Amino acid sequence: MIPLPVAQVAEITGGELAAVADPAALVTGPVVIDSRQAEPGALFAALPGGRADGHDFAAAAVAAGAVAVLASRPVGVPAVVVADVQAALGRLARAVVDQLPQLTIIGITGSAGKTTTKDLAAQVIERLGPTVSPPGSFNNEIGHPLTALKVTGQTRYLVSEMSARAIGHIAALCQITPPRLGAVLGVGHAHLGEFGSLDQVALAKGELPEALPAEGVAVLNLDDDRVAAMASRTRARVVTFGRSARADVRAERVRSDGSGRAEFLLVTPSGSAPVRLTLHGEHHVTNALAAAALARELGMDTAAIAEGLSAAVARSRWRMEVTALPGGVTVINDAYNANPDAMRAAIAALATMAGGGRGIAVLGYMTELGDQAGELHEAAGAQAAGAGVAALIVVGDDAAPMLAGAKSVGGWSGELVHVPDIATAVQAVRSRTRPGDVVLVKASHSIGLERVALALTGERPLPGEAQPDGDAQPDGDGQQEAADR
Ligand SMILES: Nc1ncnc2c1ncn2[C@@H]1O[C@H](COP(=O)(O)OP(=O)(O)O)[C@@H](O)[C@H]1O
Ligand SMILES: [Mg+2]
Repeated sequence: MIPLPVAQVAEITGGELAAVADPAALVTGPVVIDSRQAEPGALFAALPGGRADGHDFAAAAVAAGAVAVLASRPVGVPAVVVADVQAALGRLARAVVDQLPQLTIIGITGSAGKTTTKDLAAQVIERLGPTVSPPGSFNNEIGHPLTALKVTGQTRYLVSEMSARAIGHIAALCQITPPRLGAVLGVGHAHLGEFGSLDQVALAKGELPEALPAEGVAVLNLDDDRVAAMASRTRARVVTFGRSARADVRAERVRSDGSGRAEFLLVTPSGSAPVRLTLHGEHHVTNALAAAALARELGMDTAAIAEGLSAAVARSRWRMEVTALPGGVTVINDAYNANPDAMRAAIAALATMAGGGRGIAVLGYMTELGDQAGELHEAAGAQAAGAGVAALIVVGDDAAPMLAGAKSVGGWSGELVHVPDIATAVQAVRSRTRPGDVVLVKASHSIGLERVALALTGERPLPGEAQPDGDAQPDGDGQQEAADR
């Protein structure tokens, strides 16, 4: 953050100082919503959580060094008392980025691939100068300002993920950090239940190009008609990317290696260069092209972009995270979240990675699909069977329509298994795997299917099994959960 006296935090947020002995005391950051992350110089934002009220942890945060608490009522320790803590976070973030003329803000949205694209873009753009773009999602009205508040006087680029569950969400995020560059990846089925239709999803995602200034750049996926149509909703210059030969930034000669990692020729208006991604799954080509188009607009040449993309790694966990086990089995943990589009992409990657060998799909429920949930789960089951998996292990009753979908595929000779929970899913996999098998684990975040993958890799055994040293759970703190959509 840039250093701000507590009194100025109050001024920016329209708050009142309470129990503040020294209004000139400097908040230097970080701004945190988890008191365990408070440290000297921190500002602790007390949010009402699902399980706990942040106000109860105000004293602990100050004891850990926080200069003050952003709170909605006096808490007995130094505080800036505001009507709405979440809105105050947004206002503070906006005030901070407004003070940094050297900062370029880059927003990324789309139904699938935001986090991956944000991580890819950041790893390329970092080569140009100091970049803020933390791993994980941090993509909603809480995570977004928290991310923005990580910028300092030295930061040149802020690369942030913008997510929506409803019309107006992305417009609000763009108010907090007005982007100059904005990329839209795709309009798909994520959160379809809330939106009702893909056209509504498009309406929401299009708020990013709409928010861009005339001197900005809208980076749009030409392979997705609903995204391409957003060209008419922006004042900004439009740059297109995609597999289409008409795209400004495109991929030619795309192929996947035996591990499902894509190689392609990156073609831009100023040249071409070969890229070899370390990420698994051909769908990441789209994400890489978006990142390339963004980096190019920031002045990078094609060869440097290709080099950056080829060196980039998966920064945020449980997205097509591949672990080769000593016994010769490969586990793909893609359980961070799921929607029909991501499911299709992951199944395709499984088929590629299994090659002539055996693929095993462990699939669970995809949440928030509304009326179409049944048919979309059936389709996912049919895709797995159609991809020729050796076994489809469906976890949980709510995912049962996948069974019917798989059964409907004529000529599929794989094994269809229905298990009630995570422990039996792990057993079902263990009793079937042979050296050379590739196991895909995927469902929506709330299903917790990453525990299947973590048990298989030995990173986090199930209760009753031997415990590993330390718990390497990513994104496991309350801060990430509250900050993600
Ligand atoms: N372009 C894409 N098309 C389809 N699925 C994708 C794409 N990019 C990523 N995915 C898949 O979507 C899931 C979520 O990826 P992530 O990058 O976290 O996206 P988001 O932040 O939009 O949720 C992962 O399973 C990932 O493999
Ligand atoms: Mg995300």
